[in-house]
Amino acid sequence: MRVGVLTGGGDCPGLNAALRAIVRAAAHAEPLEVIGFRDGWRGPLDGDTRPLGASDVLDVLDRGGTLLGSSRTNPISMDDGIDRVRSGLVAAGCDALIAIGGEDTLGVAHALAEAGVAVVGVPKTIDNDLSATDVTIGHDTAVAIATEAVDRVRTTAESHHRAIVVEVMGRHAGWIALRSGIAGGADAILIPEQPFDIEEVVARCARVTARGRAPIVVVAEGAVPQGGEEVLTRAGTDAFGHVQLGGVGDHVAAEIGRATGVSTRAVVLGHLQRGGTPTAYDRVLGTRFGLHAVDAVRDGAWGSMVALRGDEIVRAPLADGVGKLKTVPPEQYAEALALLD
Ligand code: F6P
Repeated sequence: MRVGVLTGGGDCPGLNAALRAIVRAAAHAEPLEVIGFRDGWRGPLDGDTRPLGASDVLDVLDRGGTLLGSSRTNPISMDDGIDRVRSGLVAAGCDALIAIGGEDTLGVAHALAEAGVAVVGVPKTIDNDLSATDVTIGHDTAVAIATEAVDRVRTTAESHHRAIVVEVMGRHAGWIALRSGIAGGADAILIPEQPFDIEEVVARCARVTARGRAPIVVVAEGAVPQGGEEVLTRAGTDAFGHVQLGGVGDHVAAEIGRATGVSTRAVVLGHLQRGGTPTAYDRVLGTRFGLHAVDAVRDGAWGSMVALRGDEIVRAPLADGVGKLKTVPPEQYAEALALLD
């Protein structure tokens, strides 16, 4: 049996651990042949493959990114895209496919499964916003990097009696902001799920400043101010029609500075959160997911994805992983707010 594997969407630390586990698990018992498709769905669309054997996954556990490359190519948005992917898989001699990705990639995997293709999914995204699993590959590393950033900006903010706003990733879900904000002891945590009141953020920063401390705000890139439902866009206009402000982090920093008179800076972490060495947690999660994905292939569990529930790896229908994002529940956001001044 020949199994194709691809990584699609934004990369993240821990993908190589999953690829290594897939290759190694496939070599056990009745060996499966594994081939890689380069750059996500572009691989099967363009017939771009590479062999994936034991020597290809040596020394990759600690390497960020994905050795297969990735892209945001989405066949669903193309005429006959799903058929073209199916033909690409047949042309490459694949009997089955393991698709590693987030909402978009697993959405394509689900459409392929509906069309009768033998496919299994593995969830990854630093955003952790996939419904069917408690945790996705890459999230833990992103939270660790964002937390370190909060720790680091705090010392320079204190030295200069400044306020600093740290903008983290998360267009639709605020998991990275929530967790790095709690871990870093931020004075305000702003997430897409809960439109924020800028007056309240400013007042909180003013209270922190009055106690002689340097306020730190963590804001998810998708957070929006109350009354401003238009998403703030980098290099565009903000929800209030102000031009050329940058992203929400710049907007919040500008408002804090204007209202309090405190020198304020914004730091946008951006792709720093997606690059570099995976944490031990992401290496273990990627490894476990890879191992169980091969089991799912051996069992012919087509149309399923591996998922973490508690401490257990389970199988869930791909349909459960796509369509509805897992956002931060109000109770968890309330936990974060409970300890703020
Ligand atoms: O989907 C993961 C993610 O990292 C989001 O948090 C972020 O908004 C987006 O990808 C950035 O995408 P790109 O790398 O294509 O700019």
